[in-house]
Amino acid sequence: VSMVFAPAMAQTYPERNITMVIPFSAGGPTDTVGRLVAESMSKDLGQQIIVENVGGAGGTLGAGRVAQADPDGYTILLHHIGMATSATLYRKLAYDTLNAFEYVGLVTDVPMTIVARKDFEPADLKSLVEYVKANKDTVTVANAGIGAASHLCGMMFMSAVETPLTTVPYKGTGPAMTDLLGGQVDIMCDQTTNTTKQIQGGTIKAYAVTSPARLDVLPDVPTAIEGGLADFQVGIWHGVYAPKGTPAEAIERLSKSLQVALKDPNVIARFAELGTVPSPESDATPAALKAKLESEIARWKTVIEAAGQYAD
Ligand code: MLT
Repeated sequence: VSMVFAPAMAQTYPERNITMVIPFSAGGPTDTVGRLVAESMSKDLGQQIIVENVGGAGGTLGAGRVAQADPDGYTILLHHIGMATSATLYRKLAYDTLNAFEYVGLVTDVPMTIVARKDFEPADLKSLVEYVKANKDTVTVANAGIGAASHLCGMMFMSAVETPLTTVPYKGTGPAMTDLLGGQVDIMCDQTTNTTKQIQGGTIKAYAVTSPARLDVLPDVPTAIEGGLADFQVGIWHGVYAPKGTPAEAIERLSKSLQVALKDPNVIARFAELGTVPSPESDATPAALKAKLESEIARWKTVIEAAGQYAD
């Protein structure tokens, strides 16, 4: 009998459950994207991807958890633009952003919305700007901590209106949304994956979207640029990472599975309902994510340093 000794990983990976760390609370936008992708990837991989929410410090605690995990292919991270902004915002991170991870691929680029509790006084973006300038000591802005997408967009807003406001940090904009719905906090800049249904349901007020053009799912919400905030555009790209040293065979299998998931009709349909689209197959690759992270660190470094005085 001839025995074929193929590299164990090449033939059997994955042979048990995989943990996908989401570095924000359950029920938020990152969790929504993560669970949709994980469910579809699980089918392709034939093994369950278990989502684990590790919130705190604007996503950097969860990223650090994965940076230190066993590089065996059974722990991955789904994170967003915050991976890039945190590299500038935090002087001391538990991981070296550009050397602690292997790259699996890009997932989706989600627009943001400037929203408020439904009975907030200003009727449109122009009057919101005037209102926050006139009430800068009382207006509160929710975010998911320094390094979150909501923090970045909030910082851009405060910089655009040249008015620092009181920020209220949460472990994710899932819990932040609960307080916005309850009227405990005034405004927030959050991803359509968390706000679209609430805006459509009239339970929160929407002033603008941060995309270059209006969104099919929110046709009556003007772009921030239409509303008078020049150049106010930001898209929240998401990527899947693994700890440095994860075997290449695992990375390749995960990237292939991500590409299959992004063509899953259910993923495409759910993303569309939430105002976003899957990244193209060519972006769901290690090289594309690596290039994106490197260019985005450079891009946002200058924006953050210029706006720094408004960071909380
Ligand atoms: C963010 O602001 O980065 C998101 O809200 C994080 C989350 O998914 O809760």
